[in-house]
Amino acid sequence: MSTLKARLAEKIKANGPLSLADYMHAALSDPQDGYYMRRAPFGAPHAEGGDFTTAPEISQMFGELIGAWCADLWARAGAPAQLNLVELGPGRGTLMADICRTLGRHADFAEHLGVHFVETSPFLRAEQKRRVPHAQWHDTLATVPDTAKTLVLANEFFDALPISQYTRTQNGWQEITVTVETAAGENNALVYGHSQERENPFSAIQSALLPATLDPGDIIEASPAREQVMADLCTHLARSGGAALIVDYGYARPAAGDSFQAMQHHAFVDPLDSPGEADLTAHVNFAVLLQLAREKGLQAPPIAQQGPFLRALGLDQRAAQLAQKNPEALGKIMGERDRLAAPDQMGHLFKVLGLRHRDMPPLAGFEDGSLPDTVSEAHR
Ligand SMILES: C[S@@+](CC[C@H](N)C(=O)[O-])C[C@H]1O[C@@H](n2cnc3c(N)ncnc32)[C@H](O)[C@@H]1O
Repeated sequence: MSTLKARLAEKIKANGPLSLADYMHAALSDPQDGYYMRRAPFGAPHAEGGDFTTAPEISQMFGELIGAWCADLWARAGAPAQLNLVELGPGRGTLMADICRTLGRHADFAEHLGVHFVETSPFLRAEQKRRVPHAQWHDTLATVPDTAKTLVLANEFFDALPISQYTRTQNGWQEITVTVETAAGENNALVYGHSQERENPFSAIQSALLPATLDPGDIIEASPAREQVMADLCTHLARSGGAALIVDYGYARPAAGDSFQAMQHHAFVDPLDSPGEADLTAHVNFAVLLQLAREKGLQAPPIAQQGPFLRALGLDQRAAQLAQKNPEALGKIMGERDRLAAPDQMGHLFKVLGLRHRDMPPLAGFEDGSLPDTVSEAHR
């Protein structure tokens, strides 16, 4: 048994069940044994090991297109003299390294750029420093300067922030908890439990966005942690001006269901089995994040799907260009393109939320964006 699991079992025996959010926070971010604190979990199946992979790790095209998106927005915003590029949860730093390589071709842009990472894991900070040595690191957005225009990027960051789950009953809502199996003796097996019923445990924004019909047994996921980060991000953009791109898997309309999951070695495992050893995530409720941003005064076009978004930025053209330069890698490049954009791969499950200060021009890649060509062609 992992030491974290033993510690959590002792804590539950002494103080009572944990909320799912507290369990998830400990499993991912415990300073000693948290999943992200001790490892770089990224890798393609079979090739590099790891537990899961992400879009920037799948292909350089992802970061190149986001880099072109940044350069395009900066130019259409009047080429401000100073720009801060901020990434939340940068993982190995691959996305920002690809963006900086792309922006390096636009010397006029690159010389105005400050790079800031919001990252809690000391282990991953060291990985990021190897790829983006000139970045500055922060524990939260609070210390990122807000005096210059800012572009904030977050890929697969919100899915790692803790969630709570509530089950609909005849009389209200029961929170799903994590407790210790009493019949298991010394085994300390962790199991799900239920709290007392409550009338309405949700934030005002989420309460207004619950599915129209709910039946007893339906599960609703909530995340005060995500709402807090989103509120902080909106406050930052309101002060600095600028825009944000949030990419993650999730749902754009209110929905019920259990999306809490654990991945280890590219396979789903029981989320309670080995806290600290597996990646824990839950799908992102984009409807709540979008509404929150609009209530905070930001402009936000309708949520896009990753596939159409990347294609609007020039994914097919970039793949063809790379394949022309490396004909022997044609199959690999087209496979990566499909992985990112095909509807049955990441193309539809992954969503893109764009936010902008009202002084910024429309964002490329979204329905209310206004671009004559793909941004990657404009900035090649
Ligand atoms: C799934 S990884 C995503 C990595 C990267 N964005 C990518 O696409 O490859 C989640 C990242 O968020 C970081 N993270 C998790 N919780 C965090 C928090 N509360 N504050 C800052 N970073 C956090 C992790 O350490 C990790 O770098």
